[in-house]
Formats: sequence, C-alpha cells, structure tokens
Amino acid sequence: MAKNTILLVSLMVAVAFVASATVSMAAPIVIKFSHVVAENTPKGQMANKFKELVDQRLAGKVEVEVFPNSQLFGDNKVLEAMLLGDVQLAAPSLSKFKKYTKSLQIYDLPFLFKNMDAVEKFQQGPVGQKLLMATKSKGLIGLGYLHNGLKQLSASDPLRVPTDAAGKKFRIMSSDVLAAQFEAVGAMPLKKPFSEVFTLLQTKAIDGQENTWSNIYSKKFFEVQPYITESNHGVLDYLVITSTAFWTGLPDDIRTEVKKALDEAITFGNIVAAQKATDDRQKIIDSKRSTIIELTDAERQQWVKAMKPVWKQFEKEIGKDYIDAAIQANN
Ligand code: SIN
Repeated sequence: MAKNTILLVSLMVAVAFVASATVSMAAPIVIKFSHVVAENTPKGQMANKFKELVDQRLAGKVEVEVFPNSQLFGDNKVLEAMLLGDVQLAAPSLSKFKKYTKSLQIYDLPFLFKNMDAVEKFQQGPVGQKLLMATKSKGLIGLGYLHNGLKQLSASDPLRVPTDAAGKKFRIMSSDVLAAQFEAVGAMPLKKPFSEVFTLLQTKAIDGQENTWSNIYSKKFFEVQPYITESNHGVLDYLVITSTAFWTGLPDDIRTEVKKALDEAITFGNIVAAQKATDDRQKIIDSKRSTIIELTDAERQQWVKAMKPVWKQFEKEIGKDYIDAAIQANN
C-alpha cells in the first residue's frame, strides 16, 4: 500500500513537472512588423524602438521581428498579408488605404493642414480618433498615428509655379486624391510602389515625385533629382495597424503591455520625425546635389489655387464634416 502511494505521488510529481516545463517552454508570440522605409527614418526608428521595449519587458513571451526596406512586403501587399496572418504590425502611409476605406483620403487633400501641429491636433481630436477605426469593418484596426512630415516636390526641372509641372510625370502613392492633385496642375500621376521610386527617377522614366525630407534623404532621391520645391503641400503620416483577429486574440495582459510599448515607440518616432524634417533637409542642402527652391507667397498661392479644387471633388467620399474639423485644427 505504502509502495503504491509512493508510486502514485512520483507519477503526479512527474506529470506536474512535464506540465510546468511545457508552459515555460511555450513558444513566444511573434509580432512581425513590416515596413518599406530605411531604418534611419521616423518609422524605421519607431519600429526598432518598439522591438527594444518589447524585448526588455516581455522577454520570452513576445518576440518582435522588424523587416525594413520592403524586405518582407511592399506597399501593395502588406495589408492583404496582415489579413492572412503573415504579418502582425505595419505602418503604411495614410495614402495607401484606398482599398479599405475612403475616409482616410482626408489626409491627402492638398494644403489642408498648415503645419504638423495642426495635423497632430486633428489626429488627437474626435474625428482623428474615430478615423483610427475606419478600416475596422475590413478586419484591420489602427492602433495610433505616427508622423513623418510635410511633403515636398522633387523634380528634374525647377518647379516654381503650377505650370512648371504641366505635362510632367510624377510618381504618387496609391491614392486617387493624389492623382487628382497632380492632374489639377496638368501633370501625369503614376501610382508606383515606394521601392521602385529611386530607379524610376534615376532612369528618368518619371520626372518627379512628392515626399518628406527624411524619405528624400534616406532613399537618396536628392541624388537623382536636381530640384526640390519646398512646397509643404501635403502630409505624409502613418497609421500603425494590426488585424482585429490578431489583436483581440492576444491575452489581455500581453495586449496591454504591447500597446504601452507601441505608444512609447510612437512618441519616440514623432520626436525623430520633427528632428529629421530639419536635419535631413540640411543634409540635402549640404550635399549640393539638389537645389532647394523656396517659394514666394505669391508663387505658393498659385499652387494652392490650382490644387484646392480637389477638396470639392472628394468632399462626398470623405465627408464635409471631417474636412471642416481638419480646417478647424489649423486655428
Ligand atoms: C513611407 O514613408 O512609408 C513610404 C512613402 C511613399 O510611398 O512615398
């Protein structure tokens, strides 16, 4: 009898040991974060910061793998891949959600925001926060906005007034608003992935493109574009996005910690963005590879006048109340 009891206890101890070993050896949750820009950009640094924070705080429980430079997925594939569970986090430009929602087109309206403070105010306000969920019905949810900055126009010829752009080919992100914006000045917009822009410019297959200082610098567009017009005509920001299935499937405590790390990484990325808008502009000037054209007020007004009718064109799709809220953010 005593012998049987000992055997039973030994068996129970062995089962408990195997069970606890299985729990402690459970594979960590893997978060693949795919993006298209270089690591020395606001988004690249934000993604790396997020990994660093998760590594510190959730070691063994969550593992973040960051894939920069379109290594894993390019612009046009990442959201489909997310819905299939092949990637868990991304931060595409707000101009790349056309297949999933029309509302986010608001961010592409030319000359809508007077500066990045206005963009921040709008994003943190009620409409901006509501827009984080604009893709929810498609199985994707926004976890926050990340800044890059205001866009400039680069080209093979100097662009001072809208007629200078007429007849020229410009690469744009996959946005109908951006297409309309270039059509409004008589130019030809071409929707192309970010990974192709340098070669298109280098081979002169296109004449120009629009982008932020950090993207123009980190992807060396300034080396193949002799002129950059400091137009600040639109915003290029990001929606940090995940799939609803992945997010709601996370254990509550893990989700809370991951969101906290993400928020901190975004705050860090926004500081990098503000700094790079100044620093990378200066590095381009110092390189002497590209001339920066500063517009007079009268020249800038010509661009505003030519491009602003695009607002009306998309008012129905976006919603007048949303546009009004964005205008208010400039005050
Ligand atoms: C990005 O900043 O993620 C890419 C922007 C672009 O496609 O021009």
